Amino acid sequence: MAVTGTTGALGSRIARRLAGHGVPQLLLGRDVAGIPELVGAQRRGPAPYDDEAALRPALDGASTLVLVSGRPLGRRLEEHAAVITAARAVGVERVVYVSLLGAGPDATYRNARDHWLTERFLADSGVRHTVVRAGIYASTPASLADDDLVVRGPAGAGRAAFVAHEDIAAVIAAVVRDDGAPSVHDGRTLEVTGPEAMTLAEAVGQIAVATGRPYRHEPETPEQAFTRRLRLGLSGEQIEAWISWYLAIAGGGLSTVTDVVPRLTGSPATPVAAIDWWPPPGRAS
Ligand SMILES: NC(=O)c1ccc[n+]([C@@H]2O[C@H](COP(=O)([O-])OP(=O)(O)OC[C@H]3O[C@@H](n4cnc5c(N)ncnc54)[C@H](OP(=O)(O)O)[C@@H]3O)[C@@H](O)[C@H]2O)c1
Repeated sequence: MAVTGTTGALGSRIARRLAGHGVPQLLLGRDVAGIPELVGAQRRGPAPYDDEAALRPALDGASTLVLVSGRPLGRRLEEHAAVITAARAVGVERVVYVSLLGAGPDATYRNARDHWLTERFLADSGVRHTVVRAGIYASTPASLADDDLVVRGPAGAGRAAFVAHEDIAAVIAAVVRDDGAPSVHDGRTLEVTGPEAMTLAEAVGQIAVATGRPYRHEPETPEQAFTRRLRLGLSGEQIEAWISWYLAIAGGGLSTVTDVVPRLTGSPATPVAAIDWWPPPGRAS
């Protein structure tokens, strides 16, 4: 089993869960020192997604790959395609790709269009695969907050089923541990959501409850959101990505609540107010 993105919030949780189940793993990262040291796991890298030559030896010996998506705007397809191609070259038989809820060619959220491109590449590659579409992270509004813990944006009255990293990791661990050939998850797309669809204002209120800190929400129009982000010095691509994130929530297309977490993990999805890990404010703009 190989897992990428293991220096990050999701990949590290997937790796810890698999280690807890005694699964031998190859943990990949760009910064090997930042990869968790876990029983039964080898740390492999540096393995940036845009470097097929470095990825091949890092993936050598794995039969299944969990591909945690990277962050570059506009280059996700190229980078993810390089990882999938390197995996195929060294004999990986199965890929579990962590995509995004709402992925599609006409998605409102810019990054969801990128994820759809990787989903298509994976389908065309012919490898056995499962697409895990993660819902909107509950942590994202917390990282969008400014130093005064205010979250602003044009999400309107739309709802989203914000989901905990830990629940997504638990689903992925369940998917990869079902390793029959074929697995019941082969060819499937699983949509992983939190237990309840709520507005951004409600989610921010729940984050305040969870953290005991006074996070609050202030609505913005798309025009106000544009002007504020432009003044922060963000690029057009970054501004589009963030405004489209809020507008995707406003549009209501992310409000579906699925049974994937309870069905695959045996535990109910975690309510936002009960999540115990939060990134610091100001990590996203
Ligand atoms: N569902 C959602 O709401 C949502 C929200 C935000 C992001 N995402 C997506 O979900 C992914 C995982 O989320 P997360 O919370 O774990 O993010 P994170 O904490 O930022 O971790 C991202 C991981 O991906 C690695 N990575 C990024 N680009 C890479 C590249 N080009 N080559 C190799 N490794 C690369 C990072 O490595 P380094 O430590 O070297 O940077 C890190 O290990 C994100 O990368 C993003 O694509 C989803």
